[in-house]
Amino acid sequence: MLIGKDKAFFDEESLEKYSHDETEDLHFYPEVVLKAETTEDVSQILTYCNEHLIPLTPQGARTGLSGGALPLFGGVALSMERFDKILHIDEKNGQVTVEPGVITQVLQEAVAEKGLFYPPDPASKGSCFIGGNLAENSGGPKAVKYGVTNEYVLNLEVVLASGEVIWTGANVLKNATAYNLTQLIVGSEGTLGIITKAVLKLIPLPKKDLLMLVPFNSSEKACEAVAAIFREGIVPSGLEFMERDALLWTAEFIGEGVDGIAEEVQAHLLIEVDGNNEEVLMQDCESIMNVVSRFEAGEILFADSQAQKDKLWNLRRKVGEAVKSQSIYKEEDTVVPRYELPALLKGVKEIGKRYGFHSVCYGHAGDGNLHINIIKGDLSEDDWNNKLPIAIREIFDLTVSLGGTISGEHGIGHVQKNYMDIPFSKTELRLMKSIKAIFDPNNILNPAKIFPDEL
Ligand code: LAC
Ligand code: ZN
Repeated sequence: MLIGKDKAFFDEESLEKYSHDETEDLHFYPEVVLKAETTEDVSQILTYCNEHLIPLTPQGARTGLSGGALPLFGGVALSMERFDKILHIDEKNGQVTVEPGVITQVLQEAVAEKGLFYPPDPASKGSCFIGGNLAENSGGPKAVKYGVTNEYVLNLEVVLASGEVIWTGANVLKNATAYNLTQLIVGSEGTLGIITKAVLKLIPLPKKDLLMLVPFNSSEKACEAVAAIFREGIVPSGLEFMERDALLWTAEFIGEGVDGIAEEVQAHLLIEVDGNNEEVLMQDCESIMNVVSRFEAGEILFADSQAQKDKLWNLRRKVGEAVKSQSIYKEEDTVVPRYELPALLKGVKEIGKRYGFHSVCYGHAGDGNLHINIIKGDLSEDDWNNKLPIAIREIFDLTVSLGGTISGEHGIGHVQKNYMDIPFSKTELRLMKSIKAIFDPNNILNPAKIFPDEL
């Protein structure tokens, strides 16, 4: 037998559950869900699928937003949820060896007990898996100071399509030894191999942080303030942007808001600084206050307790879910060099006016990473299905013309693949596709993801 009965699921409920991630309302049903438990299981499954040309879609917690975990062709959904162990926290070297099905926040809390910090913190950190974060090269609010997932990956155990098992690197902080297979696997969205173990870098946990919510009467002014804060010599540990609707819809969604948001407030920046010396952090906050006052900021709310910090971060983290609960929507994960953020936002709103759609924008402003939620609202089915892709193309053209690209942290997966001709030439795409063909000559691993249908 290929795999024990207790690891294979054919029932309707399972097939339904593993037919979707968090991307829009898309469903693609697998023919079987396999819950592997060991590297050997994964190796056997891949060997079998490779021999029999069965498409296989690796799945983590299915919180993804680009459809990377959708089993487009049925076949096998390979759930990594039983790989849920933190194998070794190496305090002496500041490293952790972890299985891919560990929830990101669980890992963060386990290492924090030892005074260590694993910074990447996607909005879904309470439910997403490390494996999914590796596959998508996830970011989150802390990325602005600490960097995204790939900056914390030292070494990976990967099962190849052939069933062979490799380690991609070494457990070291620098490595100038040939091609960097570790970084090739990170962000490859399950198209090159299945990660079964990861060795991650940890850093000392900062002891203190301060958080403030800054209102602006103009969204563009809020975005302009972002680059100016860095120019002042400050690197916040969070610098998030939320349009008025993002904050209000989320407050309604979770039943808890921020008191006294004036009518004229159009956007907020949520700004966090962290470190070990409170006095220094206070000085940073004063400098930030001086900067934002030049951009006509309103009255700043300082979080004066941990409970209030948690509340503000919860508001920010729940924006995506709140928008989803309000309307059919599409989410674009644009990123531009930070200083271009105001131009991006302005352009998106102009495109929205021309095509008649409302958008709710928010995101990691410090990284120039803007999540654009396009709301279906009153748009007709025809406009939604046929005109909107043209508008999205315009948004991405603008993003790329500003020096940016079409995904900062959500990946390309299924829903963005037909826009890949915008950031990449045919030569570049073919180069990437030939890498895929070397790793996966029979194209069984997460097929038809990342690359455009026609190339
Ligand atoms: C966020 C997710 C959607 O920033 O990336 O909320
Ligand atoms: Zn985000």
